[in-house]
Amino acid sequence: MYSQSTVIAGGLAHIPVVIGVFSFIQKSFSKRASNSLQEIEPKKSQINPVEQQSDSRPAPVAKAAANTSVKKKHADVPVNIYRPKTPFEGTVIENYSLLKEGAIGRVNHITFDLKDSDPFLNYIEGQSIGIMPAGEDNNGKPHKLRLYSIASTRHGDDFNGNTVSLCVRQLQYEKDGETINGVCSTYLCDIKPGDKVKITGPVGKEMLLPDEEDANIVMLATGTGIAPMRAYLRRMFEATEKEKNKWNFKGKAWLFMGAPKSANLLYEEDLQRYLTDYPDNFKYTKAISREEQNTKGGRMYIQDRVLESANELFDMIEDEKTHIYLCGLKGMEPGIDEAMTKAAEEKGLNWSELRPQLKKAGRWHVETY
Ligand code: FAD
Ligand code: A2P
Repeated sequence: MYSQSTVIAGGLAHIPVVIGVFSFIQKSFSKRASNSLQEIEPKKSQINPVEQQSDSRPAPVAKAAANTSVKKKHADVPVNIYRPKTPFEGTVIENYSLLKEGAIGRVNHITFDLKDSDPFLNYIEGQSIGIMPAGEDNNGKPHKLRLYSIASTRHGDDFNGNTVSLCVRQLQYEKDGETINGVCSTYLCDIKPGDKVKITGPVGKEMLLPDEEDANIVMLATGTGIAPMRAYLRRMFEATEKEKNKWNFKGKAWLFMGAPKSANLLYEEDLQRYLTDYPDNFKYTKAISREEQNTKGGRMYIQDRVLESANELFDMIEDEKTHIYLCGLKGMEPGIDEAMTKAAEEKGLNWSELRPQLKKAGRWHVETY
C-alpha cells in the first residue's frame, strides 16, 4: 500500500508530463480546427461581409447528432461583434406598423442601416441583436440593452446585405390605474428614419436553421415570435433571396401562428404569396385567439391547433430531418408541452422522453420571452 504522501508526491511528479501531453493535444487540435475553417472560408477581406457566415458553412453531418457536434457545427456563427461598452450606432431606415385597422396594440417593422459598421455587423437567420434605448433609468444609469429576434435574412430586406430588421411589439400594461409603456419597445416603436440607435450583437445559436435543404421546419409562433420565422421563410421562398443564398429548400415548412385578431396577423401578404407559390412546401395554420374558439369554448391558441394536427405533426417529428422552432410568449410553453404530450400519446409516443431526445439532436429550438 502507498501512503497518502507517496501518492501525492507521485501525482505531483506526473503533472509536467500531463501538462505536456495536454498542451500537445490542444495545439494539434486547434491547428486542425483552424485548417478546417480555412477550407470552409475564404480570407475575410476577400468577400462581402454578409457572405462570410453563409451558405459555405461545412457540409452537414447526415444525421443531426448529439449536442456537441451541433455546437461544433455552429462554431463559425458570428457572435458579439458589438458589445454594450462599444455598441454600433445604426441609422433607422424605416419604421412602420405591421397591423391592420382594428388590431390590438402596436407592432412595428423596423430596419437599420449597418453599412458603416466596422467591423461589419453580420448575422445569420435565427440570431438576435441587442438594442440600447436612449436615456437613463430611475437610478440615473444608462438603460440596459434588450434583445430582439432578427426578422430579416442575412441579405436584409433590400437584399444588399447591409441592413437588419426587427419586429417589435410595444409593451403596455396597467398598474395602479396607470398605463405603463415598456422602455425599449416604446423607444423602438417611436424612432424615426434617420435616428441613430445603439446596437449590440449579434447573439444566439439556438434558433439557427439546419443546413440541409430537405429538412422539415415546424414553426410555433405567437405574436412577434414570428420574427425569426419570417427570416426562415424569406430564405426558403423569396425569389431574390433564393438567388442570393443558393439554398434550394426542398422540405416542408409548417407555420403555426397565434395572434389575437386577424388584424394582428403579421406579414400576412407575404405568407399568402408563399402559399400560392409553394403549395407543396409551405403550410400555414392560424390560431386567432379572440375571434376563434377551441373545443372547450376558450380562446383558440396555437397549442389547440397543434392538437388538431397531432397525427400529421408527429409523422413529421418522427422523421429525423424535422426541426421544431418555438418563439414568442414564454407563457405558451406549458400549453405547447401539454398539447405535445397529448398529441404524442395519440401516436403511442411519450413526449417527456421524446423532447429531450429532440433537444439533444439539435432539433428542438426554443426562444421565448
Ligand atoms: P421594460 O420597460 O423593460 O418592461 C418590462 C418589465 O415590465 C418586465 O420585466 C416586468 O417587470 C414588467 N411587466 C411587463 N409586463 C407586465 C405586466 N403585465 N404587469 C406588471 N409588470 C409587467 N420583443 C419583441 O417585441 N420582438 C422580438 O422579436 C423580441 N425578441 C426577443 C428575443 C429574445 C431572445 C428575448 C430575450 C426577448 C425578446 N423580446 C422581443 C422582448 C424584448 O427583449 C423586451 O423584453 C420587450 O420589448 C420589453 O422591453 P421594454 O424595455 O419595452 O419593457
Ligand atoms: P390572447 O392575448 O388573446 O390571450 P400578441 O403578441 O400579438 O398579443 O399575440 C400573442 C398571441 O398569443 C395572442 O393571440 C395571445 O392570445 C396568445 N397567447 C396568450 N397566452 C398564450 C398562451 N399561454 N399560449 C398560447 N398562446 C397564448
